[in-house]
Formats: sequence, C-alpha cells, structure tokens
Amino acid sequence: MRKTIVAGNWKMNASKDSVDNLIKDLLTGMDGITSEVLVCAPFPYLAQVELLIQGSKVMLGAQNLNTNASGAYTGEVSADMIKDFGARHVIVGHSERRSLYGETSAMVAEKTKAALNAGLTPLLCIGESIEQRDSGNTEAVIEKQLSAVIELVGIEAFNQIIIAYEPVWAIGTGVTATPEQAQEAHLFIRSLLAKNDESVAQKTPILYGGSMNASNASELISCADIDGGLIGGAALKAEDFLQICKVG
Ligand code: 13P
Repeated sequence: MRKTIVAGNWKMNASKDSVDNLIKDLLTGMDGITSEVLVCAPFPYLAQVELLIQGSKVMLGAQNLNTNASGAYTGEVSADMIKDFGARHVIVGHSERRSLYGETSAMVAEKTKAALNAGLTPLLCIGESIEQRDSGNTEAVIEKQLSAVIELVGIEAFNQIIIAYEPVWAIGTGVTATPEQAQEAHLFIRSLLAKNDESVAQKTPILYGGSMNASNASELISCADIDGGLIGGAALKAEDFLQICKVG
C-alpha cells in the first residue's frame, strides 16, 4: 500500500513574512493528517522553513540543484547545500525548467543522480505539452523522459524516487486533467517501471500535478495509480493546501 504524498511547489513565490504566515497556518492545521506533507521552498527560504517546521511532520524540499558537489559554479546550489538545511527532497525536471532553462532529459537524469548520491529524494517531473497530446504523442514523450532517468540511475534507484506526472497544459492554467486522463497516464508510467521491475513499480509513488486544488484533489487522488499531488498555486494558501493534504 503506497502512502499519499502531498507536496507544495512554491515556485518563485515567497517573502519572509509570507513564509512565516504560511508555515504557521499549516502547522496549526496538521492534526489528523495522515498524508506525507512536503513544501518545496525557493533556496533563500530553506533556512527559515527548516526552523519553522522543526518537530512537526512537515518536510522540506528544494526546487532544483546543480550536479556538481562544489566549486566555481556562480549562482548554483548543490545537493549537499540543500541537505545542510534539513531538506530531504528536491524537484528535478519541472516543465518550467525544461522549457525556460533548456533542461534536457539527459540533464534531468544527471540531476536525479546527483540528488540520489547525496541522499536526497528526487521528485522527478515528467509530462507532455498540449501539442504533444493533440498529436497523439503523450506516451512517447513520457517514455522518453522516464527512460533517460532509468538508463542512467537504474530501476532499483526508483525505490528512492517520487515521480510527478505534470501535463504541461494543466500547469497554472486552471485546466486540470480529468481523473480518467490522469489515471491513464499514471498507469502507463507504472507499466513502464514494471517492464523493468514489477515490485519497484508497485512501490514507486506517482503524484499528479497541474491545477490540483481543494475541489478536485479528492477525485484525482482516489484513482488507483495516483498517489498524491504536486501542488503549485493552491500550495500558497494554507487553507487550500491543508484541504488537499486531508484527502490522503
Ligand atoms: P499549479 O498547481 O499552479 O498548476 O502548478 C503545478 C505545478 O507545476 C507543481 O509543480
């Protein structure tokens, strides 16, 4: 039985005040929540969140990492630095990084490897654009993105990886995948893992991301192969995020 995981991706939205208020409000509502709850903060706020969540069941993650351990990489942040602030997770391959910052599947695979080597759990994002879906290429795109990672780190490593299926057309658009569309993609992703190792496939959490909110989370997360959510906009409001966390 896989646990439900609800992860917030704050993207580039935070201030010291907003982080204080959001985490404090989240912590007051955590009683009785059985899902694993995780917030992925922008780098400058990791230290602040680390202090605020101490002793709570909320976990901390980052949104990106550099593959090198240290050195002359101006502006970059390593896996060990992320770990230094108590984070246990890091998002890799988010579609915004693939499309805006030119991250290829090969680079995403290297980032996944660097995170794993440092003992961080990568939240590996994959998903198709609307053009790819409309031209019938959804499965081919997902397979290519996932295979690049499997080939580099091996299927066993997926015991330490969380996958997030995030159809690009659903991100920040208010257009959520229907439960049927999402379940179909999740089942396909699980079948790709199963081709390599059935038991790893059954254990790997696959989260859905893309305009998930307090109203649609329940019907999505109740699908057989949807193990939780990666939440953008709705993760910035404690009440909405808590509502989603309660679904698990
Ligand atoms: P939204 O929930 O704002 O659509 O963003 C989803 C996402 O990209 C999470 O990583």
